[in-house]
Amino acid sequence: MTEPSSNPANGDSGQGFTKRAEWSSRMAFILAATGSAVGLGNIWKFPYVTGENGGGAFVLVYLVCIAAVGLPIMMAEVLIGRRGGLSPVASMRHLAQRDGHKPAWQLVAGIGMLAAFLILSFYSMIGGWAVSYVGAAITGDFTGQSAEAIGEIFTGLLGNPWALLLWHTVFMALVMLVVGRGLRQGLEKAVTILMPALFVLLLMVVGYAMTTGHFGAGFSFLFSPDFSRLTTEGVLVALGHAFFTLSLGMAVMMAYGSYLSKNTSIAGTSITVSIMDTVVALLAGLAIFPIVFANELEPGAGPGLIFQTLPLAFGQMPLGSLFGALFFILLTFAAWTSAISLLEPVVEWLEEKKSLNRVSGTWVAGLSCWFLGIASILSLNVWSDVTPLGMFERFEGKTIFDLLDFLTASVLLPLGGLLVALFVGWKMSQKALREELAMADGTFNLWYRTLRYFTPVAVLVVFIYNLI
Ligand code: PFF
Repeated sequence: MTEPSSNPANGDSGQGFTKRAEWSSRMAFILAATGSAVGLGNIWKFPYVTGENGGGAFVLVYLVCIAAVGLPIMMAEVLIGRRGGLSPVASMRHLAQRDGHKPAWQLVAGIGMLAAFLILSFYSMIGGWAVSYVGAAITGDFTGQSAEAIGEIFTGLLGNPWALLLWHTVFMALVMLVVGRGLRQGLEKAVTILMPALFVLLLMVVGYAMTTGHFGAGFSFLFSPDFSRLTTEGVLVALGHAFFTLSLGMAVMMAYGSYLSKNTSIAGTSITVSIMDTVVALLAGLAIFPIVFANELEPGAGPGLIFQTLPLAFGQMPLGSLFGALFFILLTFAAWTSAISLLEPVVEWLEEKKSLNRVSGTWVAGLSCWFLGIASILSLNVWSDVTPLGMFERFEGKTIFDLLDFLTASVLLPLGGLLVALFVGWKMSQKALREELAMADGTFNLWYRTLRYFTPVAVLVVFIYNLI
């Protein structure tokens, strides 16, 4: 995007709608939004939550959530950002006040920021795992190894809090470096090359998966729904993951939308981003599950799934060290662009509200997040028996890391999304929405009704079933 002439955080002059800098092109917005959306959620989380929730039926619910809940909310968030033209909190406040509603609506963006902060604390730890696997791939640690040996490399890493801390620190430093310097521009250019490269490498692993003799099993695990394996909690996880993977409910898309030029189609760009995100997740699934079945691994192995399967593929394919290293570099990069989008709004908010400059804001937000991340690190080893809410049956055995994941993906993000849907669907004037979206009547009505009725009801029903 073209460098904003003024700091977006300062755009909230309280006097109305200042003109924002705009993305240099529609493509720049798509790349930045995709950079945020495509990350660990697609390659690390999607396969393991799919494995834990029985496969096909879960995937189907997830796809429905993307199309019928995620996409309409993404459009709503981008719309709020572009209409408001300010930082997310300020945009929400302005839009609410302008239509005579309570400024308290700005809390929606506040919930989003809290979620972003909590997510980044453990996201950085997982990003650290990816960084550490770059080194392991280069040094040939995976070459010719059995599934057991690969599994041991992973459990060795999890059992070593100092190593985890080191990689978590490296990852968080990378994120802070970019956010602190406002280096986003360069990154957006890099996304142009690195995203397609990640895509090609994923295709290569899918190609390898086809040679394992278990591609059919992996494929049908992903795509033949067996509803007897789906639980109500699985539906909540699918919904929460739809928000997580599309970076919704966290005000990130609002922030990005505020730079989108008026004549770009919100629907078109949102659809493109959602499709790219979904394709990457499905490819990751197609790469991983055949390897899982070929090596008699457990699909429900949990958060370590990709770290226990993909190295097997790299250990066996020609030039595997090179491709393995490249893959984990690209995964780190995908995680990095997402993590930057998680830290950025928090820093903007600190600049705006606490009058910190960008560098101090980055230190405050980054260090606090880094510190909180230590709790997730310890919950994998030293504190693995610490289950703060273990007295409730539902949270039995859940570590701090599990609870943070649950609180963010299954509570805060759907809640943020629900409030966005209610705000745009029920509080904003239809005229403003029609103006922003500039869509044909039929498609506008479809979107509007979905957002007004279907989305809130769906989120509420899933919530009520699960949380009560
Ligand atoms: N969408 C990212 C992923 O799938 O890895 C994670 C994420 C980034 C979530 C930014 C939320 C966000 F605001």
